[in-house]
Amino acid sequence: MKRKEIIEALQAEDFTKYYEKANEICLRTKGDVVSLRAIIEFSNICNRQCAYCGLNVDNEKVERYMMTEEEIVSTAKEAIEAGYRTIILQSGENTGITLEQLLNVVGSIKAIDKDVAITISAGELNEEWLKALKEKGADRYLLKHETADPILYKKLHPDSSLGERIKALKTIKQLGLETGSGFMIGLPGATVETTADDLLLLKELGCHMAGIGPFIASPDTPLKGRKDGDVELTKRAVAIARILLPDANLPVTTSLGVLNGEERKKAFSCGANVLMRKVTPEEYKDKYSIYPAKIPPTNIEKDRKDIIEMLKEIGKKGE
Ligand code: 5AD
Repeated sequence: MKRKEIIEALQAEDFTKYYEKANEICLRTKGDVVSLRAIIEFSNICNRQCAYCGLNVDNEKVERYMMTEEEIVSTAKEAIEAGYRTIILQSGENTGITLEQLLNVVGSIKAIDKDVAITISAGELNEEWLKALKEKGADRYLLKHETADPILYKKLHPDSSLGERIKALKTIKQLGLETGSGFMIGLPGATVETTADDLLLLKELGCHMAGIGPFIASPDTPLKGRKDGDVELTKRAVAIARILLPDANLPVTTSLGVLNGEERKKAFSCGANVLMRKVTPEEYKDKYSIYPAKIPPTNIEKDRKDIIEMLKEIGKKGE
């Protein structure tokens, strides 16, 4: 799809043919499987000022934490025992964790099961760190480009630029890590043209994964009180991402589920094939508040079983 067609499709009265196409491609490339991933939010410390994010450095209301190596590894072990085959290690940027600590964690998780995939998502790390992580066994790296509009990017991230972000994504890819990007729908100042450019950037980068989710206004951020991203536009963007990148892993983001649980289910027939579950220990979970979301307490195993049941109801196998 070219830019013009994408812009038209995103605004079309009837989007059915694109949903059908995306679903058909997804069934061909991914079958009826939804891949479940366990996400451990190991630190909410961050030195960035991203205007949309509840964890930005200027938010003094956040009680900052960093899990110990032992806590991270034992959480990963519990998730693997519950059946997860991918562990995502996520944090803010420049949390204070050392490269040595992060390498230890990756090594220890691989020692539990070498075939478990490890995804790191800890902001823009330098090449030395990325290379060392890859050598230690990290498989994937997740770094969303957030918005493909360079002016909007600069406005929302006063301490960096879209160019730097794209450079980091290219380094990740060059190093042979599976590369994940993604973006938000409905950031204040974004238009359908921005969304079309976001989608084309995913294609240009040749992403292996892309998380596309609605913006949710977060209190205690410069964007508090702004309008949330549109759920329908989010699903349309996911469908077009599936058409542009047939083999990519496309999660239904937590933010979509937060805005609308029913629509989250529907996204699995619009091209999405991945679901990430927070397995962060209860004592930290609420402190990792990127945007307001009520996540009822549960345990890793039960949550996974419940999700597999929910997926069964819509004809999908959670694995
Ligand atoms: N609303 C929705 N998504 C957000 N993210 C950050 N802040 C918000 C928000 N207010 C997303 C970004 C980031 C990911 C961890 O969460 O895309 O990469």
